[in-house]
Amino acid sequence: MINIGIAGAAGKMGRALVRAVAKEPKLKLAAAWDKPGHELLGQDIGVIAGTEVQNIKLQEVKDDLLKACQLLVDFTAPLATLQLVERAVALQRGMIIGTTGLNEGQMEQIKQAGRTIPIMYATNYSVGMNLLWALARQAATVLGEGYDAEIIESHHNQKKDSPSGSALTLLEAICQGKGLDPKTAVRHGRQGIVGARSKTEVGMHAVRAGDIVGDHTALFSGTGERLELKHQAHSRDVLAQGAVRAAAWLTGKKPGVYSMADVLGLSI
Ligand SMILES: NC(=O)c1ccc[n+]([C@@H]2O[C@H](COP(=O)([O-])OP(=O)(O)OC[C@H]3O[C@@H](n4cnc5c(N)ncnc54)[C@H](O)[C@@H]3O)[C@@H](O)[C@H]2O)c1
Repeated sequence: MINIGIAGAAGKMGRALVRAVAKEPKLKLAAAWDKPGHELLGQDIGVIAGTEVQNIKLQEVKDDLLKACQLLVDFTAPLATLQLVERAVALQRGMIIGTTGLNEGQMEQIKQAGRTIPIMYATNYSVGMNLLWALARQAATVLGEGYDAEIIESHHNQKKDSPSGSALTLLEAICQGKGLDPKTAVRHGRQGIVGARSKTEVGMHAVRAGDIVGDHTALFSGTGERLELKHQAHSRDVLAQGAVRAAAWLTGKKPGVYSMADVLGLSI
């Protein structure tokens, strides 16, 4: 049995994770954390997440409970994630990180931490999304320069970062297939007299509306045909289930930064 602690446990993903952990016999929830001053601190996490009472209270992140956990799961916000990474390195605990919107410097800090502890980092833990990335790379390679590639992503109206982390990984996958640099190839939206489309760009379009959990489409169009690879998440539970699968996989691994592709045996 692996003891895990969840940071951001009262959040949308945190609650889905608490429910998913309750169904996974290899894992045991040992701590549930949220930010200082959160209105639900002190309440039972099972009641918050909609499982049976778990006799674990939502708390601020504290070292005594961190020590009781073998794995720390983080779905919070970039600054909170990096604080937890520091503590995980000090205590030599593995981490599952799902927080998106990290900048290059912050990602570099995660890579550094991966020299001493095992870290799983994924911008999307669903198995279907990870397969989409692999298929999109293959499609970009096979279809080649004659096919324009565009990415369309849709999320709920509360999402903070744009484009989504999953859309950025999709961009990387397509650029790998096309032999492009994602930093220079990406073209965010189009407005005004933008002229004809170049062969070396990949369009990126972000829709924000209602309660959409997360849709991602990789569109490839040549002259005379079009291929669309589309993934739609119906519920956050699928993401939480993937993170739980990753947690069971990461246990006992050597230091390093791993991805869901490693868990699923996909090369992207
Ligand atoms: N990788 C994936 O598969 C995946 C899937 C969904 C969401 N996400 C990302 O996960 C993050 C959380 O998403 P969400 O939809 O659950 O958001 P949310 O706002 O519902 O939840 C975030 C939680 O983190 C808590 N938090 C903030 N600062 C904290 C701190 N210092 N210490 C402890 N807790 C803190 C917040 O109070 C909140 O409860 C976002 O970055 C989101 O983009 C990733």
